[in-house]
Amino acid sequence: MDAIVIEHLTKTFTPMWPWQKASTVLTDVSLRVRQGEIFGFLGHNGAGKTTTMKILLGLLRATSGKVELLGAPAGEVDAHARIGYLPESPYFYDYLTAEEFLTFYGKLAKLSAGSIRSRVPELLKRVGLDEARHRQLRKFSKGMLQRIGLAQAMVHDPELIILDEPMSGLDPMGRKEVRDLILSLRDQGKTVFFSTHILSDVEMICDSVGILARGRMLSQGRVEDLVGEQGAHSIEVVCDGVVGDEVPIVKQCALRILQKGSRCLIMLPGQEVLEEVLSAVRNAKGRLVSVVPHRGSLEEVFVEQSVQRG
Ligand SMILES: Nc1ncnc2c1ncn2[C@@H]1O[C@H](COP(=O)(O)OP(=O)(O)OP(=O)(O)O)[C@@H](O)[C@H]1O
Ligand SMILES: [Mg+2]
Repeated sequence: MDAIVIEHLTKTFTPMWPWQKASTVLTDVSLRVRQGEIFGFLGHNGAGKTTTMKILLGLLRATSGKVELLGAPAGEVDAHARIGYLPESPYFYDYLTAEEFLTFYGKLAKLSAGSIRSRVPELLKRVGLDEARHRQLRKFSKGMLQRIGLAQAMVHDPELIILDEPMSGLDPMGRKEVRDLILSLRDQGKTVFFSTHILSDVEMICDSVGILARGRMLSQGRVEDLVGEQGAHSIEVVCDGVVGDEVPIVKQCALRILQKGSRCLIMLPGQEVLEEVLSAVRNAKGRLVSVVPHRGSLEEVFVEQSVQRG
């Protein structure tokens, strides 16, 4: 069974006043998230990620389309007990201590006093806030707040965890910690759906990715497949003592030639022409400095598709 199914989702915000224009922020969005996978929901600011997530949680109503979580229609209260959510800008009751905050959410999730007593310290340890358990949230750093938010989303041990920009505002170390936490959730068999605009985070941990741009899905698939769609990987050759433009085979095959004095950077479309180019460079008395193969990246897919459809 898929953990999340979205089919032909459209959302139009109706204006408050008749003279204001209605705005359609999601158009025919379809995606599926398999159970047990990490799904990265990528998109620029304003693409419609938060709106989609709010619809998933039943916080906003879809204008049309089908939205299901764990086999139930979005917004069904019974399914909520199996879903954890970290909002984009969570409101923290900042006079509560970390421990009080999680206890509060444990009670909201109707956990028994016994399970709260064992679950809260376990979660604090898991998100690395064990030492700060008696500290008020108003004294927390941004990274600590993000981690307590994640602990809150996990308090009732949900099967599906929806995180709206869990890495936002974190430094590289903090981002790595959140990534590791998400990976550990998958190891436990959970499904994680998170939004971000940081491509490298998606490439590092996601099984699947969906790219949203201006309310429409651009692509969806396994990370390797999307990167593979890029076709041949380019190869960057740097050599010295040669003018690229003066070597016929280089001029003919290169995607790009950058010349700076005697140094020349040649971008080749793939492996096929590499040998020929290298011997031509040698014959022209050039000296090879480096050969670097470039793997296609999600960034390229993202930029290319945004440009094509934009
Ligand atoms: N209540 C609302 N009424 C009207 N328009 C809205 C409303 N909420 C969001 N929007 C618009 O919908 C679009 C998508 O917003 P959304 O917050 O879903 O984007 P996002 O992908 O989460 O962006 P970000 O990366 O900045 O968080 C934006 O143009 C936004 O202005
Ligand atoms: Mg958002």
